[in-house]
Amino acid sequence: MRARRQPSLTLRSTLAFAVVAMLAVSSAGMYLYETMKASVMTRSDHAVLARLDHFRKLLQYDLTLDTLRGSPQLFENMLDSEDDIFIIAEPGKPPVIMVNPLHAPLPEMPVVAANRPLAAADLRSGEVDPGVPLRAATVEAISGGKVVHLTAAHLAVKEMATLAGFRNRILFAVALAFVLTALLGYLLLRRGLRPLRRMADHATAITPARLDSRMDSSDTPVELQQLSEAYNAMLDRLADGYQRLTQFSADLAHEIRTPVGSLMGHCQVALRQPRTADEYQMLLASNLEELERISRMVESILFLARADDAQAALNLQSLDLAEELQRVTGYFEGLAEERQMSLNSQGDGQLKADPLLLRRALSNLVANAIRYADEGSAIDIRVETASGQCRIEVENQGPTLSESTLAKLFDRFYRGDASRHQSSDSNGLGLAIVAAIMQFHGGEVTASQPVPGTIRFTLAFPAS
Ligand SMILES: Nc1ncnc2c1ncn2[C@@H]1O[C@H](COP(=O)(O)OP(=O)(O)OP(=O)(O)O)[C@@H](O)[C@H]1O
Ligand SMILES: [Mg+2]
Repeated sequence: MRARRQPSLTLRSTLAFAVVAMLAVSSAGMYLYETMKASVMTRSDHAVLARLDHFRKLLQYDLTLDTLRGSPQLFENMLDSEDDIFIIAEPGKPPVIMVNPLHAPLPEMPVVAANRPLAAADLRSGEVDPGVPLRAATVEAISGGKVVHLTAAHLAVKEMATLAGFRNRILFAVALAFVLTALLGYLLLRRGLRPLRRMADHATAITPARLDSRMDSSDTPVELQQLSEAYNAMLDRLADGYQRLTQFSADLAHEIRTPVGSLMGHCQVALRQPRTADEYQMLLASNLEELERISRMVESILFLARADDAQAALNLQSLDLAEELQRVTGYFEGLAEERQMSLNSQGDGQLKADPLLLRRALSNLVANAIRYADEGSAIDIRVETASGQCRIEVENQGPTLSESTLAKLFDRFYRGDASRHQSSDSNGLGLAIVAAIMQFHGGEVTASQPVPGTIRFTLAFPAS
């Protein structure tokens, strides 16, 4: 079943950016709106207070109630709009002047005494229509010996309309911020993520035949550079592994073809005419030898092919090295004597290793030494343990090898010219197996020539 598609990263990031931009713009807008509202209301409060102050003085010093009664329009014209309320009345009597075009209800208000200056705290709030605030105050004045009450109020109708307009603009700005950020963010992110899409396209085009193509990471952003480099490095490793595998199978085919061809040749020649029983016996014996070699080769190849699983199945045991060397030298003593060689081993120590694999590695090295060393020379096997690290050296006298040959010894199927001619017994896999065994153990095998004509193989095990 196909996994559910996760929402796109571009879309998610874009939306997140847009929401953040929207929140930022709306917070700023809200702050500005509140500031503006406060300042508008303060201005209207000042206007109400100034008006009351002005008329209180006017009534106290210049105007009498009677003059006012005579010409009430005087007042009505003095107020500038429908939004203002002004009432002049003697307490307990019908008002002399009453301007309240919208018939707005007034809140309960304390009366500010005639001798006390007016302050903002004397104002009271009310509400006309829902959402339209009103600010009002009442003061006392003494006009021509009579007590008069003056009431003024202001309805913030226009102010609220202005503020409403302002609020709509803020809402528009918030919406615009969302849309613009989303749009720009989307475009920028798409651009920024282009290397990822390129990488996907590139990966799609990779086939075993096209393993050499690499991503160009020069214009990749830093964050993706690491990925692109890792991707290229992975391709390097894959190409390398694939190349070795191809080489291995080519070598394998080649190596198998030769002995099989020679087996067939021998049989064809033998069948051409009647042979004696002795001749058949000789043929079968020689064929058996060849078949044994093929079988050994197949077994070695299988060992190397299973190398990866073998590492997991490593059976590590604490081994006494003196004992192990004894066992190997004992096994090869006869062969060495045949070539008048001496096998010397020295040193001992403990080592954690897989016993079968260690014996196999040592046997391969000693078998090589006996096979390729000069007749009558000595083979030295030494164990050295220093700071927990264990080294086993196998050294023999033999032909001087060039540096390039030395580097090739561990390649699969590599055989020195001499061994090619000398014996049909050689497969060129012994040292490759030693190298694989050392790799399982986390160590390595190296070949060196301390002096020309002496070749030394060193098994270096890691400190346990
Ligand atoms: N001790 C040695 N002295 C000189 N040359 C050596 C020695 N050991 C290995 N070589 C060279 O390295 C080559 C590779 O060795 P390796 O053990 O991998 O294969 P081989 O001995 O030819 O065949 P196999 O071990 O598979 O039967 C040999 O053919 C030989 O030329
Ligand atoms: Mg060998």
